[in-house]
Amino acid sequence: MRRKLAAGNWKMNGTAEALAEVAALMQSHPEPSVDLLLCPPATLLARASEAAEGHALAIGGQDCHCAASGAHTGDISAAMLLDAGASYVILGHSERRQDHFETSAIVHDKAVAAQAAGLIAVICIGETLAQREAGDTLTVLADQLAGSLPEGCTADNTVVAYEPVWAIGTGLTATVDQIGEVHANLRAALVDRFAQGGDMRILYGGSVKAGNAAEIFGIDDVDGALVGGASLKASDFSPIVTALENA
Ligand code: PGA
Repeated sequence: MRRKLAAGNWKMNGTAEALAEVAALMQSHPEPSVDLLLCPPATLLARASEAAEGHALAIGGQDCHCAASGAHTGDISAAMLLDAGASYVILGHSERRQDHFETSAIVHDKAVAAQAAGLIAVICIGETLAQREAGDTLTVLADQLAGSLPEGCTADNTVVAYEPVWAIGTGLTATVDQIGEVHANLRAALVDRFAQGGDMRILYGGSVKAGNAAEIFGIDDVDGALVGGASLKASDFSPIVTALENA
Protein backbone atom coordinates (compact mmCIF):
# COMPACT_ATOMS: atom_id res chain seq x y z
CA MET A 1 0.00 0.00 0.00
CA ARG A 2 1.49 3.30 -1.06
CA ARG A 3 0.77 6.16 1.31
CA LYS A 4 -0.57 9.09 -0.63
CA LEU A 5 1.30 12.41 -0.59
CA ALA A 6 -0.01 15.95 -1.01
CA ALA A 7 3.01 18.20 -1.59
CA GLY A 8 3.09 21.97 -1.97
CA ASN A 9 5.93 23.79 -3.71
CA TRP A 10 5.96 27.48 -2.87
CA LYS A 11 8.83 28.17 -5.28
CA MET A 12 10.25 31.71 -4.80
CA ASN A 13 7.20 32.96 -2.91
CA GLY A 14 6.63 33.88 0.69
CA THR A 15 8.10 35.90 3.54
CA ALA A 16 7.33 35.74 7.25
CA GLU A 17 3.64 36.56 6.91
CA ALA A 18 3.17 33.45 4.75
CA LEU A 19 3.70 31.35 7.89
CA ALA A 20 0.05 32.10 8.65
CA GLU A 21 -0.78 29.83 5.72
CA VAL A 22 1.24 27.00 7.29
CA ALA A 23 -0.75 27.44 10.49
CA ALA A 24 -4.05 27.58 8.62
CA LEU A 25 -3.25 24.41 6.70
CA MET A 26 -2.46 22.52 9.91
CA GLN A 27 -5.63 23.82 11.49
CA SER A 28 -7.70 22.57 8.54
CA HIS A 29 -6.01 19.14 8.70
CA PRO A 30 -5.22 18.36 12.34
CA GLU A 31 -4.79 14.64 11.60
CA PRO A 32 -4.38 14.16 7.86
CA SER A 33 -4.92 10.62 6.57
CA VAL A 34 -2.40 11.28 3.77
CA ASP A 35 1.19 12.49 3.98
CA LEU A 36 1.31 16.27 3.86
CA LEU A 37 4.36 18.25 2.73
CA LEU A 38 5.11 21.93 2.21
CA CYS A 39 8.29 23.15 0.54
CA PRO A 40 8.67 26.86 1.34
CA PRO A 41 11.65 28.95 0.24
CA ALA A 42 14.86 28.19 2.14
CA THR A 43 14.56 31.39 4.18
CA LEU A 44 11.36 30.07 5.79
CA LEU A 45 12.42 26.45 6.33
CA ALA A 46 13.43 26.71 9.97
CA ARG A 47 10.45 28.83 10.96
CA ALA A 48 8.00 26.60 9.09
CA SER A 49 9.55 23.50 10.70
CA GLU A 50 9.19 25.05 14.14
CA ALA A 51 5.58 25.96 13.40
CA ALA A 52 4.90 22.38 12.29
CA GLU A 53 6.40 20.74 15.36
CA GLY A 54 4.04 18.19 16.83
CA HIS A 55 1.96 18.11 13.62
CA ALA A 56 2.08 15.56 10.81
CA LEU A 57 2.96 18.30 8.30
CA ALA A 58 6.42 17.66 6.84
CA ILE A 59 8.66 20.44 5.55
CA GLY A 60 10.95 20.16 2.55
CA GLY A 61 13.55 22.10 0.60
CA GLN A 62 13.29 22.92 -3.09
CA ASP A 63 16.84 22.00 -4.06
CA CYS A 64 20.18 21.01 -2.55
CA HIS A 65 23.81 20.85 -3.65
CA CYS A 66 25.43 17.50 -4.34
CA ALA A 67 28.46 18.27 -2.14
CA ALA A 68 28.35 17.97 1.64
CA SER A 69 29.98 21.37 2.20
CA GLY A 70 32.53 23.70 0.67
CA ALA A 71 33.05 26.69 -1.61
CA HIS A 72 29.64 26.84 -3.31
CA THR A 73 28.36 30.36 -2.76
CA GLY A 74 24.61 30.56 -2.49
CA ASP A 75 24.05 26.82 -2.35
CA ILE A 76 22.56 24.69 0.41
CA SER A 77 23.63 21.18 1.35
CA ALA A 78 21.29 18.32 2.19
CA ALA A 79 22.57 18.30 5.77
CA MET A 80 21.71 22.01 6.07
CA LEU A 81 18.14 21.30 4.96
CA LEU A 82 17.90 18.53 7.51
CA ASP A 83 19.33 20.85 10.16
CA ALA A 84 16.62 23.41 9.33
CA GLY A 85 13.94 20.79 9.94
CA ALA A 86 13.34 19.48 6.42
CA SER A 87 12.65 15.81 5.80
CA TYR A 88 12.13 16.05 2.02
CA VAL A 89 13.78 17.88 -0.86
CA ILE A 90 12.47 18.54 -4.37
CA LEU A 91 15.15 17.81 -6.97
CA GLY A 92 15.29 18.36 -10.72
CA HIS A 93 12.23 20.57 -10.95
CA SER A 94 11.85 21.74 -14.55
CA GLU A 95 12.43 25.33 -13.46
CA ARG A 96 15.84 24.29 -12.12
CA ARG A 97 16.56 22.21 -15.20
CA GLN A 98 15.73 25.29 -17.32
CA ASP A 99 16.95 28.22 -15.19
CA HIS A 100 20.06 26.52 -13.81
CA PHE A 101 20.85 24.10 -16.63
CA GLU A 102 20.50 21.08 -14.36
CA THR A 103 20.95 17.84 -16.24
CA SER A 104 19.71 14.46 -15.10
CA ALA A 105 23.32 13.63 -14.16
CA ILE A 106 23.36 16.60 -11.78
CA VAL A 107 19.97 15.66 -10.37
CA HIS A 108 21.29 12.12 -9.84
CA ASP A 109 24.23 13.42 -7.79
CA LYS A 110 21.95 15.65 -5.74
CA ALA A 111 19.67 12.69 -5.05
CA VAL A 112 22.64 10.65 -3.83
CA ALA A 113 23.55 13.48 -1.44
CA ALA A 114 19.97 13.97 -0.26
CA GLN A 115 19.36 10.29 0.40
CA ALA A 116 22.71 9.90 2.15
CA ALA A 117 21.75 12.77 4.48
CA GLY A 118 18.46 11.07 5.29
CA LEU A 119 16.15 13.23 3.19
CA ILE A 120 13.39 11.90 0.96
CA ALA A 121 14.13 13.02 -2.61
CA VAL A 122 11.14 14.15 -4.69
CA ILE A 123 12.66 13.76 -8.15
CA CYS A 124 10.87 15.64 -10.92
CA ILE A 125 10.74 14.73 -14.58
CA GLY A 126 8.66 16.12 -17.43
CA GLU A 127 8.50 16.68 -21.16
CA THR A 128 8.23 20.03 -22.95
CA LEU A 129 5.38 20.78 -25.34
CA ALA A 130 7.73 20.40 -28.31
CA GLN A 131 8.78 16.96 -27.08
CA ARG A 132 5.15 15.89 -26.61
CA GLU A 133 4.16 17.17 -30.02
CA ALA A 134 7.08 15.30 -31.58
CA GLY A 135 5.80 12.07 -30.00
CA ASP A 136 8.86 11.80 -27.77
CA THR A 137 7.17 12.00 -24.36
CA LEU A 138 7.74 8.44 -23.20
CA THR A 139 11.36 8.26 -24.35
CA VAL A 140 12.21 11.65 -22.84
CA LEU A 141 10.67 10.60 -19.53
CA ALA A 142 12.37 7.19 -19.59
CA ASP A 143 15.73 8.91 -20.13
CA GLN A 144 15.12 11.45 -17.35
CA LEU A 145 13.97 8.74 -14.95
CA ALA A 146 16.92 6.47 -15.70
CA GLY A 147 19.42 9.33 -15.49
CA SER A 148 18.05 11.13 -12.44
CA LEU A 149 17.40 8.25 -10.05
CA PRO A 150 20.51 6.76 -8.47
CA GLU A 151 21.01 3.09 -7.77
CA GLY A 152 19.46 1.80 -4.60
CA CYS A 153 16.42 4.07 -4.50
CA THR A 154 13.78 2.76 -2.10
CA ALA A 155 10.14 3.54 -1.43
CA ASP A 156 11.28 5.27 1.76
CA ASN A 157 13.82 7.65 0.24
CA THR A 158 12.42 8.41 -3.21
CA VAL A 159 9.26 9.94 -4.66
CA VAL A 160 8.91 10.57 -8.41
CA ALA A 161 6.95 13.57 -9.65
CA TYR A 162 5.70 13.66 -13.24
CA GLU A 163 5.32 17.29 -14.23
CA PRO A 164 4.72 18.04 -17.90
CA VAL A 165 6.59 21.32 -18.42
CA TRP A 166 3.78 22.72 -20.54
CA ALA A 167 1.27 22.20 -17.70
CA ILE A 168 3.25 24.00 -14.98
CA GLY A 169 1.76 27.34 -14.02
CA THR A 170 -0.09 27.56 -17.32
CA GLY A 171 -3.57 26.47 -16.27
CA LEU A 172 -3.21 23.62 -18.77
CA THR A 173 -3.51 20.15 -17.26
CA ALA A 174 -2.62 16.89 -18.91
CA THR A 175 -5.67 14.77 -19.73
CA VAL A 176 -6.62 11.72 -17.72
CA ASP A 177 -5.42 9.52 -20.60
CA GLN A 178 -2.09 11.34 -20.87
CA ILE A 179 -1.43 11.10 -17.14
CA GLY A 180 -2.55 7.47 -17.01
CA GLU A 181 -0.28 6.47 -19.88
CA VAL A 182 2.76 8.17 -18.38
CA HIS A 183 2.23 6.93 -14.83
CA ALA A 184 1.74 3.34 -16.02
CA ASN A 185 5.00 3.62 -17.96
CA LEU A 186 6.87 5.11 -15.04
CA ARG A 187 5.55 2.41 -12.72
CA ALA A 188 6.75 -0.31 -15.09
CA ALA A 189 10.20 1.29 -15.31
CA LEU A 190 10.45 1.60 -11.52
CA VAL A 191 9.36 -2.01 -10.98
CA ASP A 192 11.86 -3.11 -13.59
CA ARG A 193 14.79 -1.36 -11.96
CA PHE A 194 14.15 -1.25 -8.22
CA ALA A 195 13.15 -3.98 -5.78
CA GLN A 196 10.68 -1.55 -4.20
CA GLY A 197 9.58 0.05 -7.49
CA GLY A 198 6.00 -1.04 -6.91
CA ASP A 199 5.92 0.80 -3.59
CA MET A 200 7.45 4.10 -4.73
CA ARG A 201 5.07 6.99 -4.93
CA ILE A 202 4.51 8.77 -8.24
CA LEU A 203 2.99 12.25 -8.01
CA TYR A 204 1.41 14.27 -10.78
CA GLY A 205 2.14 18.00 -10.96
CA GLY A 206 1.04 20.77 -13.30
CA SER A 207 -1.86 23.13 -12.60
CA VAL A 208 -3.47 20.84 -10.01
CA LYS A 209 -6.28 22.72 -8.28
CA ALA A 210 -9.42 22.03 -6.29
CA GLY A 211 -11.49 21.70 -9.46
CA ASN A 212 -9.42 18.95 -11.11
CA ALA A 213 -7.80 17.18 -8.13
CA ALA A 214 -10.42 14.45 -7.59
CA GLU A 215 -10.33 13.42 -11.24
CA ILE A 216 -6.53 13.27 -11.26
CA PHE A 217 -6.40 11.32 -8.00
CA GLY A 218 -8.74 8.72 -9.51
CA ILE A 219 -6.11 7.73 -12.11
CA ASP A 220 -4.21 4.48 -11.54
CA ASP A 221 -0.68 4.95 -10.20
CA VAL A 222 -1.25 8.58 -9.24
CA ASP A 223 -0.21 8.61 -5.59
CA GLY A 224 -0.69 12.31 -4.96
CA ALA A 225 0.27 15.69 -6.34
CA LEU A 226 3.04 18.26 -6.38
CA VAL A 227 1.18 21.55 -6.32
CA GLY A 228 2.67 24.96 -7.07
CA GLY A 229 0.36 27.96 -7.35
CA ALA A 230 -2.55 26.34 -5.53
CA SER A 231 -0.39 25.50 -2.50
CA LEU A 232 0.36 29.11 -1.57
CA LYS A 233 -2.96 29.67 0.19
CA ALA A 234 -4.26 27.12 2.67
CA SER A 235 -7.77 27.81 1.39
CA ASP A 236 -6.69 26.63 -2.09
CA PHE A 237 -4.48 23.73 -0.97
CA SER A 238 -6.82 22.32 1.67
CA PRO A 239 -9.52 21.08 -0.77
CA ILE A 240 -6.78 19.33 -2.76
CA VAL A 241 -5.62 17.57 0.43
CA THR A 242 -9.22 16.59 1.17
CA ALA A 243 -9.68 15.28 -2.39
CA LEU A 244 -6.60 13.07 -1.91
CA GLU A 245 -7.89 11.86 1.46
CA ASN A 246 -11.15 10.88 -0.23
CA ALA A 247 -9.56 9.27 -3.30
P1 PGA B 1 1.70 24.62 -10.67
O1 PGA B 1 3.19 24.14 -10.40
O2 PGA B 1 0.81 23.80 -9.76
O3 PGA B 1 1.69 26.07 -10.32
O4 PGA B 1 1.40 24.35 -12.11
C1 PGA B 1 3.49 22.80 -10.19
C2 PGA B 1 4.95 22.62 -9.91
O5 PGA B 1 5.77 23.27 -10.58
O6 PGA B 1 5.33 21.85 -9.03
